[in-house]
Amino acid sequence: MDSPLNSEIESFFDSAPPLNDRAAISQKLKEFIALNSSESGTRRVACVTSGGTTVPLEQRCVRYIDNFSSGHRGAASTEHLIKMGYAVIFLYRRGTCEPYCSSLPDDAFLECFEVTEESAVQGSSRRPSVEASLYNYIRMLQMIAVSSRSLGPCSMFYLAAAVSDFYVPWKSMAEHKIQSGSGPLDMQLLQVPKMLSVLRKEWAPMAFCISFKLETDAEILLEKADMARKKYGMHAVVANELLSRKEQVVVVTNNGKIPVYRDKTSSDSDVEKPLTKLLVDRHSVYIKDSNT
Ligand code: PMT
Repeated sequence: MDSPLNSEIESFFDSAPPLNDRAAISQKLKEFIALNSSESGTRRVACVTSGGTTVPLEQRCVRYIDNFSSGHRGAASTEHLIKMGYAVIFLYRRGTCEPYCSSLPDDAFLECFEVTEESAVQGSSRRPSVEASLYNYIRMLQMIAVSSRSLGPCSMFYLAAAVSDFYVPWKSMAEHKIQSGSGPLDMQLLQVPKMLSVLRKEWAPMAFCISFKLETDAEILLEKADMARKKYGMHAVVANELLSRKEQVVVVTNNGKIPVYRDKTSSDSDVEKPLTKLLVDRHSVYIKDSNT
């Protein structure tokens, strides 16, 4: 862990709070990967990231900065990937959409359950907890990537989460709630190192990696997506514009830009179905090429 890339990330984590249950998560990951790799053939495993991360402004967090994502893209894509035979590690933010839950009632229903210490019912809360934080997201992504290295080209990363670009370093963060009586808030946010390069180069160099590019200005979208593809060595970048993201996306690859549309003739169709189909086909070619 001493390359310039990793040292940037190490300093980002320098004084970050540790991941709760690290040992248990690591054990579960090990078991999951072992279950999906066998002498007779490795199953394809996708890590789908979903939902937005938060960055706390106070260590005992009352206020935070949030990145928008309902988690619909990640949840729907997970369902399609599972149908196409993938085992999926779903790294998501609690309170955002989950696979197979889109037709269930929203929180109003879940709030009918009383969650007690002894209760087996897990309540779902929209209040961001430390689990949604940027630190946890990146630590978990790293653990998943390193654990799935043994899967080689059969592993896919589908990075649909909206990840914070700016943060307050833990060390310089106020411990207690920032007082509003002291006038305007003057705070400097540092840039979060992009994890895409290190994911590709060091954490999981054989994996098939897809990142997403979200813009609100359609004019710059495709150019920015192509720049990200080249800069971070992504196998594909899915370009989407905020308002039309449920109807169309463009998959940017090294040999072209492919528009993908939701099937408008069917009311219950989604754009994730043709999108995942296209990416799975690309992944098949990638696996074949890697094995020859
Ligand atoms: O969840 P929905 O409401 O259905 O919406 C889906 C979506 C619009 C959130 C999704 O399709 C999408 O575009 N996700 C990525 C949004 C985003 O954060 O884009 P970005 O340009 O900031 O980041 C680009 C890529 O870099 C992302 O794949 C992200 O995982 C990664 N990233 C970002 C910041 C950072 N510090 N490190 C990263 O690795």
